[in-house]
Amino acid sequence: MSVDIMKDIMNLSKNRGFVFQNSEIYGGLANTWDYGPLGSELKNNIKKAWWKFFIQDREDMVGLDAAILMNPRVWEASGHVSNFNDPLVDCKECKERFRADHLVEKTLNIPTANLTLKELNDLIQEKDDIVCPSCGKRNFTPARTFNLMFKTHQGVIETDKNIIYMRPETAQGIFVNFKNVLNSSRKKVPFGIGQIGKAFRNEITPGNFIFRTREFEQMEIEFFVEPGTELEWHEKWMEASKIFFTKILGIKEENLQFREHDPKELAHYANKTVDIEYKFPFGWGELEGIASRTNFDLSRHSEFSNEQLNYHDSKTGNTYIPYVIEPSFGADRTFLTVLIDAYTVETLPDGKERTVLKFAKNIAPVQIAVFPLKKNEPSIVNQSREIIKMLQKKFTVAYDDTAAIGKLYRRQDEIGTPYCITVDFDTVEKDQKVTVRNRDTMEQERIAIKDLPAYFEKEFEVEW
Ligand code: GAP
Repeated sequence: MSVDIMKDIMNLSKNRGFVFQNSEIYGGLANTWDYGPLGSELKNNIKKAWWKFFIQDREDMVGLDAAILMNPRVWEASGHVSNFNDPLVDCKECKERFRADHLVEKTLNIPTANLTLKELNDLIQEKDDIVCPSCGKRNFTPARTFNLMFKTHQGVIETDKNIIYMRPETAQGIFVNFKNVLNSSRKKVPFGIGQIGKAFRNEITPGNFIFRTREFEQMEIEFFVEPGTELEWHEKWMEASKIFFTKILGIKEENLQFREHDPKELAHYANKTVDIEYKFPFGWGELEGIASRTNFDLSRHSEFSNEQLNYHDSKTGNTYIPYVIEPSFGADRTFLTVLIDAYTVETLPDGKERTVLKFAKNIAPVQIAVFPLKKNEPSIVNQSREIIKMLQKKFTVAYDDTAAIGKLYRRQDEIGTPYCITVDFDTVEKDQKVTVRNRDTMEQERIAIKDLPAYFEKEFEVEW
């Protein structure tokens, strides 16, 4: 898949109402995007599928919805105030800013995760190949660290004493509520807490459409386990994640890979991390990180707060700080993945091209479209409306009568609607049957109206 595909997908996203440039009428805000009518449906469907699969359908999981703004001590304890930095360099010629590690990594093709700021600086100064990607010159400032958290002030006075941060991850909202959830839900280790919510990072080099943005949404799980069992659980969470991506979201398995962090790349508190990556048109990119974070976060919050965030096992009599497996997903990246994976351009037997979004049926923004063969014929229109009313209880259904049937099919293909129903004269005058057309095979069959709910129930069933 070429990088040009990204342009086609961005155009389709705008034209069909999936994703718009934010504040477009004011010239936009760089790397900030809004989800349109179909995009918000698709994103909601992805989040609902995640919530159902990982939280509602499991006895060992519960949900949470913590606030974005938190006591700043949280970010001291988590290490974000001192360590959540990226190395930044400026080009003195064109004034563009870059991540020093990305500059070195891309030009020299070497991993940089374990390089110090000084080592990065030395490479940038020494290697003539490293030039500004924007103007091609070689005149950089020394690399310096840049904290990625967005700061603001709480209350009416803006002083250093009332600085607070927009959360850079949803995870910490889970850790600080560990005791609240434990006491109120009466869950026993092993159990987990999941939440979906916005996170903010002042990324130095956002880009690739919605892949890396400064405001984004995460779907995160902290799964608490007995120390010593964490690697077994890590394995189970990798398997569950794979099922979610391939069976629930329908992403092609050949476009996914598991990449384990090597010991140098591994965070100092983690004893294993595996990223699930997707083959984006611009290269492999992280979709989800599954980290075995030991008891780092709960220990740090125990140290910084007045609470001992430990667990008493009534069966064994042992008290310990649980270890944590953290499967952390990006909702926007998952959305982009679903969109790219579904995007298909086919040549039909008559030589014409059709663009189809082959979404998994359960997450398609419109699941069924209903067309009246004749829009001025009351009996056909009324019958179409009746069918919509009947199917709307279970499915997302749309009505369209603004073009000829062939054109309506193409439009629905382009937004990924799995089924179209056409109501015609035979339906109302003869047999009470409709034509149901399948998006992927383009085959059509006549089905009795009364059988439609059962037919679609079966067609939309998710098996895994
Ligand atoms: N609590 C762990 C954590 O936040 P992370 O690898 O920094 O880990 C997890 O982020 C996921 O969040 C990533 O795999 C990615 O899907 C998403 N993500 C992170 N930064 C992002 C950004 N700037 N824009 C969009 N998604 C992002």
